[in-house]
Parts: sequence; C-alpha cells; structure tokens
Amino acid sequence: MKARIAVLPGDGIGPEVTAAAVSVLRHVAAHGDHDFEFSEHAIGGCAIDAHGDPLPAETLIVCKQADAVLLGAVGGPQWSDPKAKLRPEQGLLRLRAELGVFANLRPVRVHARLAELSPLKTERLSGVDLMFVRELTGGAYFGAKTRTADTATDETRYTTAEIERVLRRAFQLARTRGRRVTSVDKANVLETSRLWRETAQRVAHEFPDVALEHQLVDSMAMLLLTRPAAYDVIVTENLFGDILTDEAAALAGSLGLLPSASLGEGTRGLYEPIHGSAPDIAGRGVANPLGAILSAALLLRHSLGLAGEAAAVEQAVDRVIDAGVFTRDLGGSAGTREATAAVLAALSERA
Ligand code: NAI
Ligand code: MG
Repeated sequence: MKARIAVLPGDGIGPEVTAAAVSVLRHVAAHGDHDFEFSEHAIGGCAIDAHGDPLPAETLIVCKQADAVLLGAVGGPQWSDPKAKLRPEQGLLRLRAELGVFANLRPVRVHARLAELSPLKTERLSGVDLMFVRELTGGAYFGAKTRTADTATDETRYTTAEIERVLRRAFQLARTRGRRVTSVDKANVLETSRLWRETAQRVAHEFPDVALEHQLVDSMAMLLLTRPAAYDVIVTENLFGDILTDEAAALAGSLGLLPSASLGEGTRGLYEPIHGSAPDIAGRGVANPLGAILSAALLLRHSLGLAGEAAAVEQAVDRVIDAGVFTRDLGGSAGTREATAAVLAALSERA
C-alpha cells in the first residue's frame, strides 16, 4: 500500500526516538512491499526558534494531507518561561484540535520481565492488558473559564454527540480485544457524568456482543491499583482520563515504553509516545525508543489498516524485552540505536 506519513520530531529526545520509529516503519515497508513516503516538519520549541510559531502553517498543511502523523515530543527548559507568549505545548494542542482527534488511545501492558520495575506487586500485574480511551477535545480543559480576584470557574460541558463518538470508538476497539468496556464517570454527583452514563447505555445497544460496566472515577483510581488485570477497554472523559492514564502508566514501570494514538472520525491519526522531551537525557543516544516504536505499530494498525504488521512490530518489541536488551530507564545499558537495531533484527528473524 501507499501512505504519506508526516514526521514531527520536535524537541529534546523527540528526534532520537522518532528516527527509531521511522527506521522500523521503513523496514516494514521494504519487507511488505509498501510505499511509505516520509516528510519531516517542525513543531514545538524548535519551530518557535526557526519559524516564530510552535505550529508553522506548512506543518499543519502537511499533517492534514497525510495519512498519519508521527510525533516525538515538544518542550524544554529554554522555552518554558511562563510569561513567554509562544510556548511549545501550544503547537501540540492546536495540532490535536485542528486534526479533530477526539479519542486518545493508550494501551498499557505489563511485560513479565519488567514487572519488578512497577510499584505494584508482581502477582497483581500478571495479565495486565489495558486500553484506555480518553476523550481529548472536550470537558473542563476546553470549557469557558472565568476569574475574578477570589473566584475561578472552569466549565465542564459535553454534548451527546461528543460522548457518542468516543464511546463508539471504545466499543469498536473492544470488539478487537476482550469485548468488555468499563465506562468511568462521576454520575453520583456530576450532570455531565449522568449524560455520559445514559449515552454509554444507549451506545451499548449498538454493540450487544460487548459487555458494558460503569465505574465511578474515585473507585476506578483504586481498582487500577488493586485489580489492574480485571479490565480491558476503559473509556472516560478528558480530565478523568488525563489522571487515570498517568496512574496506569506507572504500572508499566517506565514512561519510555508507552505509546499513544489520537484518532478522529476517519483513519488519519496522530501517534506519539506518552513521554515528554526528556531534556535531562536529550542528545546522548540513551533514550528508550520502544514507546515511539510501539506508537508506529499503532499507526500501522489504526491509520494504515496493517494489523498483521502492527502485531509483528509489537511481538518484536516483546522479544527484545524478553532478551533483556534494556535501555537505562529499564536498568540496562543499551543505547537508543542498539535497542532499535535489536527490534529490527527481531522483525527480520520473523520474516
Ligand atoms: P519527560 O517525560 O520528558 O521525562 C520524565 C522522566 O522520564 C525524565 O527523567 C526522563 O529522562 C525520563 N524519560 C522520558 N522519556 C524517556 C525515554 N524515552 N527513555 C528514557 N527515559 C525517559 O517529562 P518531564 O521531564 O516532565 O518534561 C520534560 C519536557 O517535556 C517539558 O518541557 C514538558 O513540557 C515536555 N512534555 C512534552 C510532552 C509531549 O510532547 N507530549 C509530554 C510530557 C512532557
Ligand atoms: Mg497528563
């Protein structure tokens, strides 16, 4: 197949980990007779420096024309003056909004060999395989804000249509996994949550083969620590999802391992590791590339429809972890290139 992939390396370790992900995608293309066309564009702090804009017009145009966008990370101390008018994060937030990517997918699996890095007891982690679906473009983060000297408000607003589309994504995903959806809300207190729950119940009728359960967010925060293996797809609104996904990320042991996908109505998506630009290790060739490589696997699955290739990349990553090729965040000494080469070798072995 033919695909156009926009690559936005960004700042800090972004260029190092996106280079790793691109090399894996090139390998998949070469071995599967696919024609992937890559083009690199600026976003974040480096785009402020070069173009005076964290999301240059050219970058946005290319992303809108692409089949998929692969992003590294943005930000760094040199651009974090709170009084600065231009900030790297603005570029990323605008890109998500412009692409209309309302569903943020974050898979969390705990690899048996890495369970000891997790703060939880090993026996609780066995079989953890979660897929979070966080609503990304509504709720308190986007609602009206007011402020007087001593009072502040952040409006949380959701429409049925906004809730339906993200829930449908969650149910569709559940069909490719364990056919269970846990919808998280605070319906005992919040009106938006009552609308969320009613809508979830209605959408569930479209998916009679998928089981729906509801959890209150405070309870879910506890259950993620006490019974993380009991859940499959977990769908929730923006603010709850922001908090719960960071909690779940801690289960996996290192930020460097975790990928994400942000999807809208079509197949175009934005793919990025969940970690930031890690200025403390940038430029040293020691960043863990696996989160970016697993984001490339999500890109193959969700934007290009290459589920077999996606699974092959995920299995190659598993085998690299099985073999104990660890970067420093996992307690090893492999560099970014060495870890990437190990993934490429594992992919070749299989082919
Ligand atoms: P961070 O995720 O960049 O780093 C947190 C810690 O994890 C650091 O010790 C770092 O070295 C380590 N780490 C992160 N990714 C790693 C990897 N792939 N391999 C090995 N170690 C890794 O978060 P932090 O330090 O809070 O933020 C740094 C900058 O990144 C800030 O400017 C922040 O705004 C930005 N940021 C950007 C995000 C994005 O582009 N989506 C997300 C989060 C933060
Ligand atoms: Mg967060």
